Order: sequence, then structure tokens, then C-alpha cells
Amino acid sequence: MTAGLPPDCYFDESLHAREMEDIFRKQWIFVGLKRQVSGHQDYLARTIGGVPIVIQNFHGELRALHNVCSHRHSRIRTADSGCGPLQCPYHGWTYDARGVPVGIPGNREHFGFSEEQKVERALRRFELEPCGEFLFVRLSPDGNSLSEHLGSYAELLSHLSEHFGQTAPIDEQSIPWETNWKIGVESVLEAYHVATVHHDSFQPLLAATLHHERQGDHTSTISLLRDEVCQWWDKAARRLKLHRSPRFENYDHFSIFPNLAIGLTRGSLMSLQTYEPVTATRSVLRYQMLLANVLPDMPVDGAVARSVADSIVDSNRTILSEDRVASELAQQGLRHACRRATLGINEGRIRVFHEALIRHSPDLGNRA
Ligand code: FES
Ligand SMILES: [Fe+2]
Repeated sequence: MTAGLPPDCYFDESLHAREMEDIFRKQWIFVGLKRQVSGHQDYLARTIGGVPIVIQNFHGELRALHNVCSHRHSRIRTADSGCGPLQCPYHGWTYDARGVPVGIPGNREHFGFSEEQKVERALRRFELEPCGEFLFVRLSPDGNSLSEHLGSYAELLSHLSEHFGQTAPIDEQSIPWETNWKIGVESVLEAYHVATVHHDSFQPLLAATLHHERQGDHTSTISLLRDEVCQWWDKAARRLKLHRSPRFENYDHFSIFPNLAIGLTRGSLMSLQTYEPVTATRSVLRYQMLLANVLPDMPVDGAVARSVADSIVDSNRTILSEDRVASELAQQGLRHACRRATLGINEGRIRVFHEALIRHSPDLGNRA
């Protein structure tokens, strides 16, 4: 049995600001899959550690740039994703792959910028690296390489990239949670709550949850699926011609520090979830659910595919909504906590998460 973090780590704005500085602006943060920015001018907009970022494809080159116009600081991208030239909506400055405002309406009469002066006004550029299909951004110019950060999970992501990511997600949403981002992460790091919170939704699918494993700052666990659930998935995978991963036969869950969670069901379904900080007491759960790629040259019955997808999407939305309610109740209670949380042996992944947080942001652990 161990103690959790000091309760104010979940609502104090100054600690939150330290965390953004020490963790989110220094670590590799998952931003999406290559498929989401596979075409010229496709983009994703994200906020990392409070900093607005745009990830954009420029003729096949992916760049992570500051999503703040060099002219008078408007946000450039306002949607989470889309396709189009990188152009500020306020006065129309347009940026190239270097982040240079190459298109400035009325430049000659209003500014008279030379090429060199335009280059001086380039958007900040950030580190962007793929691991297979998975894209990560690091705001700090210095730090571990992505492969050092991922450790043995780099091989995991490469393996998953062979089986997922070629087809569009069956569901994709961003949901505001009235919780600190860590409450969201912690909600997926233990199966202790499944019997109560997910009594009628997730619990009936599981036979048992095994001990967790640790890989540096990251952790994993396996929950055994009931036989009838395995049979349902085997039938669905056959009918949908899924190129499933043979490595994962149960419900395998991976947490990649700080805020990415990957759930794999029978090697056939992958859920990607990030808990993105907004303020000390608000976050956004962003998720996508992907079925495994379809085997090449295999015709799939569209009606069957839709009915399988619909049942998965509905049940997953129910589970996530149950998690949000439980997590928001925990957030509400935290302000009134008179002692640290108590973590059981079955909550060991949360302990690993806290150790990593404190190692990267020592202020979190430095108080009574
Ligand atoms: S603020 Fe972006 S073009 Fe003026
Ligand atoms: Fe849950």
C-alpha cells in the first residue's frame, strides 16, 4: 500500500504551470497518426503544455509549427484538423514549410519586407518525429530522442503500425472533462473500478486482470477476456477480413508517459486516448478507435462492417462516459481531501505514474 500525490497537485494552478513546463514542454507528446496528415496541406492543431501547435503536411514534409501568427498573434488554425494552406484568418498572411510568411497581402506598400525580413518572422518550429504511424512532438529543442523516450515501446508502436492506421477510425471524439489531466490518466491505469463503475458495460467482458509491467516511465497490463468475447471477436475479425495482430489475444493496455493510453482488444481493435491538460481542473479526452487494417484484396460486406462498428462504438462511448462521471466525482472531492490517496497493490501503475511525474517535476512531491 502506498500514498498518492498531495491532493493540491490536482487543482493548484501554480503546480499545474510547473507541470506544463517540466513535463509537457519537455517530453515527446503523441499528437496523432500519420494517416491524419497524409495529404498535402492536411493539418492537426493541438495544444501542448498550453502552447498552440499546428502539424501540417507541406508536399509530403511534415512540420510542427507554432500556431500563432507572426503579424498580430492571431491563432492560425482554429479547427482541430482539416486541409488547406497555412493562412492566418485575420489578415491573410500565408506560411510555407519553414514557417516563413511568404504571402503577405500588400507587403510592398504596408511593410516593405525583404525576403530576409520575412525569414526573421518565421513561426517557431518544433521537433516532430514518427514512430511507425505514431507522430510525436517535442517543444524543447533538447532532450531524449524519441526512441530513448519510448524504450522497448518503440518496437510495440512499430508492430501496431503494421496492423492499424490504414483505415479511418470507427469513432473519434474530443470530450471536455472537468478534471485535472492526471485524473483522466489514472482512470485507465487500474481495473479496480471496473466492477463498480463499469458493472454492466466493461465488467461482463473480462475474466481477470493480471499484474502490470513497467518499461521505464511507461506501463502495461493484460486483462483476460471471457471465452465468449474472444469467440465474438474471432468471428468479427473473420467476417471483416481484419489483419489482426496475433501478439495480443486479450485486452492489452499500454500507458506511454505522460498522457497516451493504448487499448488493444483481441489484436483487432485499437483505442488511442490522450488526456490533454487545459487548466489545473479541466482537460480534454481525445480518442480514436481503429479496427485492424483489412487484408489486401479481400472484399468486406459493408453492412456487416457497419453493424460491428456500431456496437463497438456504442459500448465504448458508454464506458468512457462512466469513466468521466467517476473521474469528475474524484476531482470534486479532491479539494476537500484531508490526506493523500491510498493506493492498493492493484493500483501499482498509478504509483509508477506518480514516480515518473515527480522525477520530471520534483515540485509535485516536495510538499507535506
Ligand atoms: S494577425 Fe495574422 S495576418 Fe494579421
Ligand atoms: Fe474505466
